[in-house]
Amino acid sequence: MVKPVPVERLSPAAAEAELKRLAHEIAEHDRRYYQHDRPTVSDAEYDELRLRNAAIEEAFPDLVRADSPSHRVGAGPSEKFAKVRHGVPMLSLANGFSEDDVHEFLARVRRFLNLAADAEIEVTAEPKIDGLSISLRYEERRLVQAATRGDGFEGENVTANILTIAEVPKRLPKGAPSLIEVRGEIFMSHKDFAALNEKQIQAGEKPFANPRNSAAGSLRQLDPAVTAARPLRFFAYAWGEAPELPAGTQWGVIEAFHAWGLPTNPLMKLCRSESELLGHYRMIEGQRASLGYDIDGVVYKVNRLDLQERLGFVSRSPRWGLAYKFSAEKATTVLEGIDIQVGRTGALTPVARLRPVTVGGVVVSNATLHNEDEIARKDIRVGDTVIVQRAGDVIPQILGFLADKRPAGAKPYVFPHVCPACGSHAEREERASGKTDAVRRCTGGLICPAQRVERLKHFASRNAFDIEGLGDKIIEEFYTDGLIAAPADIFTLEKRDARSLKKLKEREGWGEASVAKLFAAIDARRSVALDRFIFALGIRHVGETTARVLARAYGSARNFRDQMVAAGKMEGEAWEELTALDGIGEVVAEAVVQFFGEKHNRDVVDDLLKQVEVTALEARSTSSPVAGKTVVFTGALEKMTREEAKAMAERLGAKVAGSVSKKTDLLVAGPGAGSKLKDAEKYGVEVIGEDDWFRRVGEG
Ligand code: IVH
Repeated sequence: MVKPVPVERLSPAAAEAELKRLAHEIAEHDRRYYQHDRPTVSDAEYDELRLRNAAIEEAFPDLVRADSPSHRVGAGPSEKFAKVRHGVPMLSLANGFSEDDVHEFLARVRRFLNLAADAEIEVTAEPKIDGLSISLRYEERRLVQAATRGDGFEGENVTANILTIAEVPKRLPKGAPSLIEVRGEIFMSHKDFAALNEKQIQAGEKPFANPRNSAAGSLRQLDPAVTAARPLRFFAYAWGEAPELPAGTQWGVIEAFHAWGLPTNPLMKLCRSESELLGHYRMIEGQRASLGYDIDGVVYKVNRLDLQERLGFVSRSPRWGLAYKFSAEKATTVLEGIDIQVGRTGALTPVARLRPVTVGGVVVSNATLHNEDEIARKDIRVGDTVIVQRAGDVIPQILGFLADKRPAGAKPYVFPHVCPACGSHAEREERASGKTDAVRRCTGGLICPAQRVERLKHFASRNAFDIEGLGDKIIEEFYTDGLIAAPADIFTLEKRDARSLKKLKEREGWGEASVAKLFAAIDARRSVALDRFIFALGIRHVGETTARVLARAYGSARNFRDQMVAAGKMEGEAWEELTALDGIGEVVAEAVVQFFGEKHNRDVVDDLLKQVEVTALEARSTSSPVAGKTVVFTGALEKMTREEAKAMAERLGAKVAGSVSKKTDLLVAGPGAGSKLKDAEKYGVEVIGEDDWFRRVGEG
């Protein structure tokens, strides 16, 4: 690395340029770290950048940028506690809301592990505590650090406060390993919550809304003496960094925790069948009111840790676990109208406008009605008194209506056949299977203002370009006022604003500071990773996972664009390469080439590429012997299922393709391999067996 110029020798212009570069660079590292779980620099290098930024800012306080990394707030931990990076991220569990979801969870586990549909599989079941999760680090059997979950990757150091909690052991007994991070939930009992609120009210302070908030508020006190006076409790249920675990099963580890003096939940049970799991759920649900603390569901975990390891994670949740939430809250209210929303791909979605009603503590005034068949099937009519259900964080749903309350003259709902936004014809596509699509779509494409606006919203949204401050409402306003019509316009906004007579800062609700903040947020996204870029285009059927597959395969935005145009004939090399990618089926491939087949879409992409720099996706692992290689698996694999093989290869930085071409580097062939083996010979592709694969990647 080039030695940086000492801060005292920097000219103001050089300082300004460097601060700008650092702001972008650090923002990009933050994004890779927090959102993609793919840091590309070491912690030390990262700290170096931040230190350099702080030193320059100290020497040139006038040059501190609005988007300076040193005053960034966001999903990360708050500034008042020191930060702790979790060596093993604190992720969350996928939610289930019905017995079907539990059934599907078990089926998926079996499928992934290649077990028979009726194979016995041990799963633990325990209450899901409604508190806040914490990670307790014991070194040499002494509690040395306690950290909150934060955004899952970095939390707050609350060690001093945790040390005041009587239930948390400060030492582990002999026999406990020399390093272990115990994870669990901090919570407050109903009784203690009521007493604390009583005190709050008497002292003229605001009472807490619920035990969870009061536990969080109590733990996040700057003065540990305040925490000490608050009766917090703890249950251990998981672990983070743990090089030597005391057992090979979930159950065994939790038993060891218990033996070491850590509080564990007495309602945990080891189940061997689906009916046992459902039975235990009902048992816990039955006890819910008398437990004395809040729980919001039951957590299931595959018991064997070797199986947990094989199952691994999908995006941010483990495949080996499920949180089966308690059933949703329901209420009745009047359906005042049905609006039709037009989505970014033209889908017309009916939305119920409801007389506002409180469901499970939240005021609900909209609910989804899914699609036209659903309205017809349920025969829901405007004016009906309907039953609304809210489950977890999903959009409220309408379950049905009360027949005796139907007003005289209520007419069946007629779903529109024209787009309410642009008047274009709206139709239901015929699927390849011969079935008609459930969704009716506007055929207006980009002449439809609703589709344009929705595409822009998607473009700026969190998992796409993630432009802070450019939320849905502002995009709608800017679109209506002609400020932003296409994605590239976002990046020319500042320049155009500088030239225009009517400045953004003169808009109602805006001022100098908010405009500067918006421009800084836009600036921070002038460099973006390729997978986000592809996802942001809003191509039908291209979600985050597909975008990642495409980004890995094509490497650069320019190459991706050109190859997709080349694949437009739906035959030939480019098309074959696209459809050979694992995870890209015909439907997706067609959608992508159709997108690039339209000039206005190519224009969107080309204009955008003049404004932003797109960075190649880092391979997940760059050190493995198969990093960057294209691998195909064929024949019967004996030690892993196809899905596992794929997940493993991708973890090691390889691309997995579904068919052999001259671009294939490696064919892993099990017994019974057929045509792919022949193709490999034809193209001179290296062929190895399953055992060789393990030897090669060093996991054998
Ligand atoms: S296990 C990979 N067990 O629920 C995550 N979590 O969505 C493993 N929680 O953040 C977590 N009770 O705060 C687990 N018995 C339990 C739990 C539990 C509550 C919380 C925890 C976690 C969230 C998962």
